[in-house]
Amino acid sequence: MAHTESFQLEEAAAEAYEAKFVPAMFTEWAQRMVTVAGVSPGQRILDVACGTGIVARTAAEIAGAEAVTGVDINPAMLAVAARVRPEISWLQGDAAALPVPEGAFDVVLCQMALMFFPDAVAALREMCRAAVDGGTVAVAVPGRLADQPGYGPFVELVSRHADSGAMSLLGVYWACGNLEKLERLFAEAGLHGVESQTHIGEAKYSSAADFVAVEVESTPLMARLTEDQFARIRTEAAAVLQPFAAADGALTVPLQGHIVVGRKAKERKR
Ligand SMILES: C[S@@+](CC[C@H](N)C(=O)[O-])C[C@H]1O[C@@H](n2cnc3c(N)ncnc32)[C@H](O)[C@@H]1O
Repeated sequence: MAHTESFQLEEAAAEAYEAKFVPAMFTEWAQRMVTVAGVSPGQRILDVACGTGIVARTAAEIAGAEAVTGVDINPAMLAVAARVRPEISWLQGDAAALPVPEGAFDVVLCQMALMFFPDAVAALREMCRAAVDGGTVAVAVPGRLADQPGYGPFVELVSRHADSGAMSLLGVYWACGNLEKLERLFAEAGLHGVESQTHIGEAKYSSAADFVAVEVESTPLMARLTEDQFARIRTEAAAVLQPFAAADGALTVPLQGHIVVGRKAKERKR
């Protein structure tokens, strides 16, 4: 699964990501992640590809800000993360070479980012390296596009108007969605006791126009569309998303995703 998409945003778009995208889609997944991974007081937590820091902040509510570190490759995302929660340690770094010592964290979390890493197994090995012996590595990813009744038709709408650059990004979002393959990646990375859960989240938007604003303006998609393409997508989105609209036009769009949890082996006593 080699690709070149890494979800890079400039700072204004990173602010929009924090203000719009995170509350619409990822806040509830962060709650689920820390619960499924068993984050508890006294643990040290690493959030890999932390973006603007929703998972790190959610873990800090349980473990305390001083126990949490977030790493992301993008300084713009980290600048927003640090503005929102300066007490957490924010480090710039690549998931393929995490800037943290071996065995320094009880729980390593990575939400909605594994599909952007050029080598997912190498990144999972790095997460394993960062964990203590017997520690937890937990990853959340969106499911397959075929299992997304709302995002599927939206991606299809974009494909009717956009170019290959936009479609490359929209293809990668779902690239880790095959659960059997994902579990195999964990095993290849040397993680044990692998368990997974599939959830259907509820992404919330105030209207179809809000859906398009969130999905386009607070993601790298904005830079891949012309004004004309964007306008056509905005015009047609309401019809495509109609099945998810309430009487007042607000949308609740299902986002199916997987959370996979594995453990680093405990070192045997000689
Ligand atoms: C969709 S965002 C998810 C961010 C965050 N985990 C969340 O739940 O909001 C994907 C993030 O992956 C980061 N990223 C992509 N490739 C990376 C890499 N090789 N190493 C570290 N971070 C990376 C991007 O900069 C971006 O912040």
